[in-house]
Amino acid sequence: MSTTPPPAVTINGKTYHTDEWFNVPPGVLAATTRKLHLQKDHPISITRQILESVFPPPTYRYHNTFDPVVTTHENFDSLGFPPDHPGRARSDTYYLNATTLLRTHTSAHESALFRAAASPGYLISADVYRRDDIDRSHYPVFHQMEGARVWDRRLVPGGDLAAAVLADLALLPTHAVPVEDPNPPSHPDRNPLQSEHHTAAEAAAIAAHLKRSLELMVVEVFTRAQAAARAADPAFVDEPLRVRWVEAYFPFTSPSWEMEVYYDGGWLEVLGCGVSRQGILVDAGQPESVGWAFGIGLDRIAMLLFQVPDIRLFWSRDARFTSQFEGVEGDLGRLRRFVPFSRYPPCYKDVSFWLGKEGEVHGNDVMEVIRGVAGDVVEDVVLTDEFTHPKTGRRSRCYRVNYRSLERTLTNDETNELHTRVRDALVERLRVEIR
Ligand code: PHE
Repeated sequence: MSTTPPPAVTINGKTYHTDEWFNVPPGVLAATTRKLHLQKDHPISITRQILESVFPPPTYRYHNTFDPVVTTHENFDSLGFPPDHPGRARSDTYYLNATTLLRTHTSAHESALFRAAASPGYLISADVYRRDDIDRSHYPVFHQMEGARVWDRRLVPGGDLAAAVLADLALLPTHAVPVEDPNPPSHPDRNPLQSEHHTAAEAAAIAAHLKRSLELMVVEVFTRAQAAARAADPAFVDEPLRVRWVEAYFPFTSPSWEMEVYYDGGWLEVLGCGVSRQGILVDAGQPESVGWAFGIGLDRIAMLLFQVPDIRLFWSRDARFTSQFEGVEGDLGRLRRFVPFSRYPPCYKDVSFWLGKEGEVHGNDVMEVIRGVAGDVVEDVVLTDEFTHPKTGRRSRCYRVNYRSLERTLTNDETNELHTRVRDALVERLRVEIR
């Protein structure tokens, strides 16, 4: 994508030089100042506090003000991402320069917190940045909470680590939500035990502590969601909650799992987690510590809790949105569901173009050009057609853009004008030819 980067950018008071890797549009840069997870009475902040309540201090320390700018080492290398991992691509990640980026996940701070070893556990909540599609549940900036818990072998009474972890597990509350967990504690091919570092009994104990902790977290959230639904509608019949564990892969945990929650008629993936790779703890100067880590997206959970239908609303400064949550923070026991103030009409417009001679145009670049012109007025963008000309071999694509403001009805003239500017920007920035 062709853009001339500014020579330098300043984020949270620090200045970074840019180079040919720079790809952060102004709207995303501006979002770095918002810190929605810390805004009083904001649904993202309230969601954070509900999750925090399940991981009490002093065992867990909260870190909520880490800077979004990190190094490629912190975001990828320190976590064992291979050099050719697709997440590193400029099409997926926002770079300030070749070695500095906007974190794509809160795991970027894992290594530093393991190194600091200030508490056996921690939670990090923060804004994270990814180039992605445009629709009602994707926004280039969203929020994650990362948690971890470690045990130092040297501090374990009698040296029996598995027993010590199970003793901590016994101190956790129980819950009555049915859990489907057909997976073995580890699997030699699909989900390997780190056998040089953990006995099978140790890994199983860490996994059991991890799973119970995270089940308690989601049970807390979804029970509150159901209570809010009942408060809004006394006739609401809640389907019983169910939780299931599925095997997963992350470069920085093994074995790894994802948790899914059955809510409102479907299975919803809510978090990723696993037994921390020992190499990360060794590199962080903690070879004697072993433990677990998880990461959960806050925006989708907040959308469920408050029944917010569109992720863009979290960024809205419209008082019809913000005023609905006033005072909730002082009384987390009584969540109020969001009452939509209006739904303005959608306006669909198609744009078809031929790809230029150089060939590939990444879908995320198309999304970003559109968002760069139309901002939060785009609700979603769908690739509706792809076509290769049988004779010339030229390829074309068609996208359908839905322009719909959250705050008012757009006039016809306004949408037409926006769409013309979108087409011009696609031509200029992606070198495509409008059909
Ligand atoms: N960082 C992972 C993600 O963004 C989630 C995760 C965190 C998984 C910690 C395992 C352990 O998808």
